[in-house]
Amino acid sequence: MQPEQSMIRNKLGMKLGLVIIAVFIIVLSTLGFTIDRMFTNFYNTEMSIEVDELATHFAMMAESPDAPTEQMLLKFADFSNVSIFYVNEQGQVQAYSGADELAGASFIEQTDVSAIFSGQTVRLKYEAASGNRYIITAKPIIDQRTEDNQIQSALYVLSSSKHMDDSIVAMRKLLVLSGVGAFLLALGITWIIAHLLSKPLVQMQQATRKIAVGELETRLEIPRNDEIGSLAAAINNLAEELQQYRDTRQEFFANISHELRTPITYLEGYSKVIKEGLYSTEEERDQYLDVLHQEAKRLQHLVDDLFELSKMEEGKVSLSLEWVDLAEVIDNAVQKVDLKARDKGLTLTASLNRGSAWIYGDGLRIEQVIINLLENSVRYTEQGGISITLDQTDRFVYVIVQDTGIGIAEEELPYVFDRFYRVEKSRSRQYGGTGLGLSIAKKLVELQGGEIFVRSKLGEGTSFEIRFQREEEGGMA
Ligand SMILES: Nc1ncnc2c1ncn2[C@@H]1O[C@H](COP(=O)(O)OP(=O)(O)OP(=O)(O)O)[C@@H](O)[C@H]1O
Ligand SMILES: [Mg+2]
Repeated sequence: MQPEQSMIRNKLGMKLGLVIIAVFIIVLSTLGFTIDRMFTNFYNTEMSIEVDELATHFAMMAESPDAPTEQMLLKFADFSNVSIFYVNEQGQVQAYSGADELAGASFIEQTDVSAIFSGQTVRLKYEAASGNRYIITAKPIIDQRTEDNQIQSALYVLSSSKHMDDSIVAMRKLLVLSGVGAFLLALGITWIIAHLLSKPLVQMQQATRKIAVGELETRLEIPRNDEIGSLAAAINNLAEELQQYRDTRQEFFANISHELRTPITYLEGYSKVIKEGLYSTEEERDQYLDVLHQEAKRLQHLVDDLFELSKMEEGKVSLSLEWVDLAEVIDNAVQKVDLKARDKGLTLTASLNRGSAWIYGDGLRIEQVIINLLENSVRYTEQGGISITLDQTDRFVYVIVQDTGIGIAEEELPYVFDRFYRVEKSRSRQYGGTGLGLSIAKKLVELQGGEIFVRSKLGEGTSFEIRFQREEEGGMA
């Protein structure tokens, strides 16, 4: 199991991690690129404007009537941290000030000079041998003393972009640094998310495996109220239900084998007695045969009940639903049980409100339930009587079967509807029940949307109530 677990974690973690990291890289690189472009463009524009302004300024100073001398102008340039070059029409430098590396004046080209001498402003970029870059604006200086405003010389103003380049490099460093930081953060987040997601999944996988091989006590402890938490809760539920199912099934089989063994022992014993002639009178023999007959009938009854029950458990019982008149159903049931009651010297009275006790159900099944209740009453009553009542309120139609029998102790009441449950095991021999009747009755009533209740007092009597919700439409037909 070990390698498989880690595989799941790796798979999930890997997938998530790759996605998150890919998104981060894409976002970061576009962002970084854009910021870099923005800054670089901004700096470049700013510098060009500045150099342009300086050039205009110097040109104006040089042109003004009370112009300072060339030497003074060169000094000004030094103060302004720029280099300036006076160039004549042939491209020769007449005077300059500024950085030594520019002394070669290799940035001066004849085409530019001609353009300047035809009155244009020229803008250039130049990279010195040292790698320093310069932004250059060159302007004509017009000699205003001459008639036709002759151009006297070209004025080159150069400003080093070293400052700007340094700033850009610093900014790029910062960008890269924050990029790496963000990337590490992404890795961390990925790891945490993968861990948070995959750890409970791995736990659940292990748990379901255990449940699958029958370790039904397995429970998950993932107290979260998100989807993962509710999945874990669902798995716990499943395990609980399976456990319950397994327990009741085991109990069920134990009960069945017990119930079968008893009558079979009787059959075996008494048939042996008869076969070997171990009786003295005909009467005795008849008595034994009677027992055999009783036990065979009991087996038949048990098998029928079990069959019925298993059909219901599988949900295979088919109800033929129609509108039935409960009064009629009760009449039929009473008729069938009446003889048994009279045999035992019990009175069986029915008081039926024959108004409109119609329900949508399976008449024969309801009759079966009522016969079951009536037979129980007859069986567990020694003297007195049994009454059956049919009545209704505006919400319910109800049937009550009441007897003056031996009753059921309060602590036993919650179990009487359980399969194979009999109040005191000794009753079964005396009265001959299997403990399945009420559980079948309850199932049948519930299948038809009804409810069943019991009330009893030990030694005084018992009453069972079946209740169906009233349905208005069609019922009056
Ligand atoms: N009217 C009643 N008075 C007293 N005890 C009752 C009454 N009805 C049921 N019981 C008790 O409840 C138990 C369960 O009843 P249930 O009908 O399920 O089984 P049973 O009558 O013993 O067997 P079966 O009906 O399967 O032949 C009975 O064994 C009996 O002890
Ligand atoms: Mg019964």
